[in-house]
Amino acid sequence: MPVPIVQIRNLTKIYIRDVIGTEFGRLKIRLKNRKVAALKSLTLDVNEGEIFGLLGPNGAGKTTVIKILMGLIFPTSGFATLMGKPLGDKSVKASIGFLPENPYFYDYLKGYEFLNYYGQLYGMGAEKRRKKIPELLELVGLTSAADLPLKGYSKGMLQRIGLAQALLNDPRIVFLDEPQSGLDPFGRKEVRDLILSLKERGATVFFSSHILSDAEAICDRVAILSKGALVNVGALDEILSARIKAYEIEAMDVPEALVGELEKISVQFVRRTKTILFVIEKEDLAEQMVKRIINSPGRLVSYTPRRETLEEYFIRNIEKQQ
Ligand SMILES: Nc1ncnc2c1ncn2[C@@H]1O[C@H](COP(=O)(O)OP(=O)(O)OP(=O)(O)O)[C@@H](O)[C@H]1O
Ligand SMILES: [Mg+2]
Repeated sequence: MPVPIVQIRNLTKIYIRDVIGTEFGRLKIRLKNRKVAALKSLTLDVNEGEIFGLLGPNGAGKTTVIKILMGLIFPTSGFATLMGKPLGDKSVKASIGFLPENPYFYDYLKGYEFLNYYGQLYGMGAEKRRKKIPELLELVGLTSAADLPLKGYSKGMLQRIGLAQALLNDPRIVFLDEPQSGLDPFGRKEVRDLILSLKERGATVFFSSHILSDAEAICDRVAILSKGALVNVGALDEILSARIKAYEIEAMDVPEALVGELEKISVQFVRRTKTILFVIEKEDLAEQMVKRIINSPGRLVSYTPRRETLEEYFIRNIEKQQ
């Protein structure tokens, strides 16, 4: 078995937060230390070449995990390795790409200049930068914005230039903290496609997200965090219940009297422009309904068993965070 590219063992992080407490009536103000357990003994592995999604609601601890792996903050206890080496190893840092959650950009640099500057920070020679930067601008769809100052970029364009920055050194593993946040559906799809193309080139992608449908579409495996603790880890089809949750029946031209009867046994009922959607929980009732539609002047458009989605899993397993 090859060593996992990321190994996280019993990682715990407790932040100390200074809170100003007031006691009314006695006019007393004191400074209290409040401990926040952001990570509670987290253990997980990421394998080379996979797209790994770290999922969880706001405050679950996703950014904390990524910041520890990037060496930006230190764990309270536990440890992690990247490429088999302890955190902070310089040779490892050279093979990592990172897009932070709220990247800070120099407004007055143009797209090309920004990448050129970061290329210099990576120690890339002028020749290499001249070749690599146009390739990356092309990859993230910003060739025509190369000469535009970053202050004129939209949120989606900034996210994409940030991604290009994370890929400058052809990293073996890329860490992306919420790469799709704030993007419209087109922008999110572009980021998804980019992540898939990185995997095709053999890179490992570790990204965090709370946009479940995006993760569902591309992850080989996911870890689900809640309040700093691991709820589950594995391939999505292992995590999500294989159980069929409901049956969706779509039909058209169904006589109104029959629609009324079928509506009564449906858990969900939606009139669309041309068709009607009935959602039924029990299989035998769903089959009866299909037969009745077929034997009526109406037409059955589709009959689809529906499995649990990641969103339903979340709602079933994760308490709402405070
Ligand atoms: N510097 C800090 N000082 C004190 N508490 C912190 C600090 N950074 C994070 N926390 C707390 O730690 C917990 C985990 O935060 P973290 O940012 O890792 O969550 P997250 O999963 O990335 O959330 P989001 O989806 O909102 O980005 C939260 O309760 C947060 O308030
Ligand atoms: Mg975060």
